[in-house]
Amino acid sequence: MEDRPINQSLSLIDTNSVPAEDKSVLHVWGRASLSGHVKISGAKNSALAIMAGALLCPEDCLLRNVPSLLDIERMSQILSVLGIKIKRQGDNLEIDARTPDDSQAPYELVSQLRASFFVIGPLLTRLGVARVPLPGGCAIGARPVDLHVRGLQAMGAEVQIDHGVVHAYVSGSGGRKLKGAKIYLDFPSVGATETLIMAATLAEGETTIENAAQEPEVVDLANFCRAMGAKIRGAGTNTIIISGVPSLHSVDYSIIPDRIETGTFLVAGAITNSEITLSPVVPYHLTAVIAKLREIGTQVIVEEPNCLRIVPDTLRATDIETSPYPGFPTDMQAPFMALLAQSEGDCIITETVFENRLRHVAELNRMGADIRVKGNNAVIRGVPILSGAPVLATDLRASAALVLAGLAAEGKTAIRGLHHLDRGYENLEAKLQQLGAKLQRVQDEEEVEETVQVQDHDQVLPK
Ligand code: UD1
Repeated sequence: MEDRPINQSLSLIDTNSVPAEDKSVLHVWGRASLSGHVKISGAKNSALAIMAGALLCPEDCLLRNVPSLLDIERMSQILSVLGIKIKRQGDNLEIDARTPDDSQAPYELVSQLRASFFVIGPLLTRLGVARVPLPGGCAIGARPVDLHVRGLQAMGAEVQIDHGVVHAYVSGSGGRKLKGAKIYLDFPSVGATETLIMAATLAEGETTIENAAQEPEVVDLANFCRAMGAKIRGAGTNTIIISGVPSLHSVDYSIIPDRIETGTFLVAGAITNSEITLSPVVPYHLTAVIAKLREIGTQVIVEEPNCLRIVPDTLRATDIETSPYPGFPTDMQAPFMALLAQSEGDCIITETVFENRLRHVAELNRMGADIRVKGNNAVIRGVPILSGAPVLATDLRASAALVLAGLAAEGKTAIRGLHHLDRGYENLEAKLQQLGAKLQRVQDEEEVEETVQVQDHDQVLPK
């Protein structure tokens, strides 16, 4: 990829217009047989938190293995508005946060990306003030930020929410420094844990976060902060202790592989009855996902320390309940629902992390699945095969589930709402095509109609 300063070359996204991606349609031809190897990209959720973490550093940061995604681009734009210089070179991001300013993060971007709220912690601890609009992101429930705010207040921040903007500042005679505190999270929120780790790195004294999130992305952020000189213990357990330091220094840091992308490709192998390999991966980040795939009847073989092979077989139903790490990840719930929709027998998927994260059920049912929603449970009666249909992606992971369902279904599936997909999967279509899948994205309605007619008439697959 060419070397370009993000600050100069990207224009802000106009939220009043429908994103161009929204008008495009992805055609997926089913009964796919896949084979080969997939290169897994850097973890989106790590990269977003670590980009916010770069605000802590008064020197250059070099981030490696940063996926090229819409969410990353939006985060870059937010940092740019906050006075940060960012340059992408291939998979690397060079970030120069020497002179952050306390200008307000722009609502039109923050409203599209929940992770952008995470800038509140580093801005507040470095500058003593932060103004960040309440966030947006996937439409999967209310997703409040009360745990972030209560934690910052425990560290001495004054917080006011005015016209949808969270205004946090540190006042008092002791300078504009947050103070270490003991914080108990009512729920092990990933975002709140990350906000508070970042805030505590430069606070005065020691901060303890109890009932902290244990996700690998939290550990990655903590490791990034430690590489800059932060003093953090216990990341990856439910108690994290941070001893504040006066300042941090430059760093060269590589983001971990994306465990959700890995899980999505494992499901792609299972759902198409195809043997594929994936690397680089960290197998123990996927313990719950691999255990469920084995219960369902597929073999998942750890080939080298960082490579997985999936060898599928008949799919059997199994119940799944999402929970915080190391439990089964909520981000894999929709992909597994596509898989279980075509397995032998009945099962229940229970979503416990987010409310309103079962909206893909209606779309899978359009493809012939037999799924009923009762509260936060999806009761699945396996069918022998799904059938291609026009469907709408309702959130990021739902969009992946529809692609997976389309790969296995009889006939062709036409997926709209692709801006969700582009938020979180780097080159998904190209990677699947490399494995032998038939997919084609067309840009506007007219082109879609034309292509649909041609394809329906001739039954021709794209080259
Ligand atoms: C992160 C991930 C997302 C993943 C989720 C759970 C990023 C950018 N996104 O989201 O992909 O699905 O973790 O693994 O890393 N909650 C509150 N108050 C708060 C914060 C959270 O009630 O202040 C609730 C949320 O509404 C939700 C639950 O806690 O029901 C989990 O949210 P959280 O772990 O914070 O998820 P995110 O950090 O938003």
